Order: sequence, then structure tokens, then C-alpha cells
Amino acid sequence: MEQQNPKITVRDCRAWYGPQQVLKEVNLDVYPQEILAIIGPSGCGKSTFLRCLNRLNDLHRTFRLQGRVLIDAEDIYRRDINLAALRQNVGMVFQHPNPFPMSIFDNVAFGVRESSDAKNLGKILLAQIVEQALRRANLWDEVKDKLHTSGLLLSGGQQQRLCIARVLAVKPAVVLLDEPCASLDPASTAHIEELLQDLRRHYTIIIVTHNLGQARRISDRIAFFLNGRLIEHGVTASLLVKPRCQETEDYLNGNFG
Ligand SMILES: Nc1ncnc2c1ncn2[C@@H]1O[C@H](COP(=O)(O)OP(=O)(O)OP(=O)(O)O)[C@@H](O)[C@H]1O
Ligand SMILES: [Mg+2]
Repeated sequence: MEQQNPKITVRDCRAWYGPQQVLKEVNLDVYPQEILAIIGPSGCGKSTFLRCLNRLNDLHRTFRLQGRVLIDAEDIYRRDINLAALRQNVGMVFQHPNPFPMSIFDNVAFGVRESSDAKNLGKILLAQIVEQALRRANLWDEVKDKLHTSGLLLSGGQQQRLCIARVLAVKPAVVLLDEPCASLDPASTAHIEELLQDLRRHYTIIIVTHNLGQARRISDRIAFFLNGRLIEHGVTASLLVKPRCQETEDYLNGNFG
């Protein structure tokens, strides 16, 4: 994997909310077609790190970042970056499914309609994009006969797959997921894990999870954060079985967090 060019390169990344430093000298490369799991105790900076990768932290007035984040070797913090295009390319799925209060179809079409070249899209092409995204999110068979009912009427697990379809519809290269299964039952969680395995072939995926079993089942590599530092990262099986750092071992043994 590491012979390929990284999709994402993070160098000496430091971040603050006001006076509080929450990320400290983070260096990490993430490769195409891998699933990287981010683990670590609550408050260690996992979500903040994820949001650095599509500049969602910029929405917080007191947020400040130093260092470099490159996607396809391009600095995403340069002044003239197109933020809407960045956030399409680096899609995000959150802890609680958050469908918009509109139909299943409109949820998936939403980002496509917002995008700059949507004006030239005919109805048929839009319907094809929606179908393809729902198929990719393993939801099509369950919703194909009720595309015009509200997304809010779906089960929690279906809603989360709808949110994944909404992200996929705008053709991202990177998909970030922040504890996407935290509010789901075991069957829905298994469904999402299976889906992520299918998606790995097409995307670079980073998932934050508190569930070490989930990290073991689905990730190629794991990054362990503690107090804003990236303590270590490595191939999933090696890191879980034989971590290099004492802090990682303590976390894996449930000694904190
Ligand atoms: N918008 C914000 N304004 C100020 N401080 C924030 C903000 N968001 C996060 N923080 C602080 O930054 C630190 C890192 O938070 P972050 O949400 O990244 O942690 P996390 O590892 O995702 O935790 P959890 O596992 O609980 O989701 C915490 O101390 C948190 O209080
Ligand atoms: Mg978090």
C-alpha cells in the first residue's frame, strides 16, 4: 500500500479552539482504497482531526490550524480553495443519522442539485445518479418502491445508509465517518460494516470508532490518538496484537477511555 502515492498527507498539524490546543504535531499519510480507523479516548481530538480534512472546523469561530493537509498533493488550506468542491470530494457521515426532512429521492439528489454543473443535468440522469448512489449504499432494494416518502420514516440503520448515499451521490474520493454506528443496533451496524468493505475499492475511508471489534473487523490500518497526539499508527492486526507504545497497550487493555 505504501508504494502508492498517499491520497491524504498530514504534516505537523496543530489545532486550537481558542487557547486550548487540541491537536499536536500530527503526521499521517492515508492511501487510496484503504480503511483507516481512528481510535482513542473521548476528547482526544478524533473528531477535530477528521474535520480538519474537509475544513469543517472552519465553521467554529475560535478554531485555528497550523501545518499542512494535502489531498492529492494539493494544500486544502490554501487561500483560493473552493470549499464546496472540497467538501464534495471529502464527504462526511456523522454519529447520528441526519436525513433532511424531505423525500428519500430528494435527500440523495440534494448535493447533486447544489453542485455547480447541476443545471445541465436532465431528470433522467439525476434519477440514475440517485439510483446508483442508493445501490452503492446497499439501500436501493429497500427503498426503490417508496423513493418519494420522507427519509425520516426509515429505520435508524436505513437512515444512516441514506446519509451515506447522499455523500456518495456527489462522487467523493474520500469518505469520513465519525462513529457512524454509535446509535445503531448490532444488525444495522453489521450492515454498515459490510457496506464499508464494499466501498473500500472505490474510496479512501477514514472511520472514527470507539468499538475496537469494529476497527479490527473493517480497517486496514489503525491510528491511535491520545490527548491530541497521534501516538502510533500501523497495520490493524499488528497494532492490536503488538502495539509499540505503552499508552496504546493501556488503551487496548481498557485502562482508560
Ligand atoms: N467547537 C469546539 N469549541 C471548543 N472546544 C472544542 C470544540 N469541539 C471540540 N472541542 C474540544 O476539543 C477537544 C477534542 O474534541 P473532539 O471532539 O475532537 O474529541 P473526540 O476524540 O472526537 O471525542 P469523542 O470520542 O467524545 O467524540 C476536547 O477537549 C473538546 O472539548
Ligand atoms: Mg468525536
